[in-house]
Amino acid sequence: MKIALVTGANKGIGFETAKKLAELGHYVYLGCRNLDLGQKAVNELHKNGLKNTEVIEIDLTKSKTIKKAKNTIESKFGLLDILVNNAGILGTVPQPAVSTNVEEIRTIFNTNFFGTIEVTQELLPLLQKSEAGRIVNVTSDLASLTLHNDPTWKYYPFKSAGYSVSKTALNSYTIMLAFGLKETNIKVNAVNPGHTATDFNNHRGDKNPEETAGVIVKYATTGNDGPTGKFLNSDGEMPW
Ligand SMILES: NC(=O)c1ccc[n+]([C@@H]2O[C@H](COP(=O)([O-])OP(=O)(O)OC[C@H]3O[C@@H](n4cnc5c(N)ncnc54)[C@H](OP(=O)(O)O)[C@@H]3O)[C@@H](O)[C@H]2O)c1
Repeated sequence: MKIALVTGANKGIGFETAKKLAELGHYVYLGCRNLDLGQKAVNELHKNGLKNTEVIEIDLTKSKTIKKAKNTIESKFGLLDILVNNAGILGTVPQPAVSTNVEEIRTIFNTNFFGTIEVTQELLPLLQKSEAGRIVNVTSDLASLTLHNDPTWKYYPFKSAGYSVSKTALNSYTIMLAFGLKETNIKVNAVNPGHTATDFNNHRGDKNPEETAGVIVKYATTGNDGPTGKFLNSDGEMPW
């Protein structure tokens, strides 16, 4: 049994990721900023026999909750094997580069970029105690600079100055972190679930979260010969 934490796990892709990890027999913390919503999600898993799940308060914009979560996991298990940095926000769209208010961009970065880094750094000492630590940073097609430069790409017009840029920054941080951890047992990858029907996009995605969470779980549980420092989706490596 491995110990896992999925942020933003009360719904959407995060919930399905937590569920799949629990189905594999791992002990899963559902990191949620709203404990009531988190407890409801856990109750649903318990009802399905997945008693190996527990809610834990984590708000990516509140350092106190991140530190407290680390202490809670440390005192119960002493380590963490899997961290899925799933929590994220889209912000108000559209986000044209010429006019999107910098405060809006800052708000998006505070969660998707700075908050994710803070969670990761706080939990790294616990991941370093694992025999095979795994970090998945949940990213997006829209993070790809290469694809954003291809006018034939289907999402070419979707240029969001806050959301896309925050995920590109997260991809870049993934490379930096993988380099920093290359002498350790920890693997870190940026994993793109693909366009998924959730509250995030008013359920306009092509696939459902039950399907797209699979690729996140795949890389959250990758073996010692698995990749690190890569940008991945269900087809394999993506262009940066
Ligand atoms: N849906 C897609 O098509 C798609 C495609 C590519 C990548 N992604 C990425 O996949 C991840 C999950 O998205 P989703 O589609 O499942 O969206 P979702 O249904 O809107 O879920 C987002 C989750 O993140 C949580 N969250 C937001 N801000 C938070 C904060 N400050 N602290 C803690 N939790 C916070 C939300 O909590 P509340 O319920 O409390 O708001 C919710 O649990 C995101 O990183 C998103 O960028 C999504």
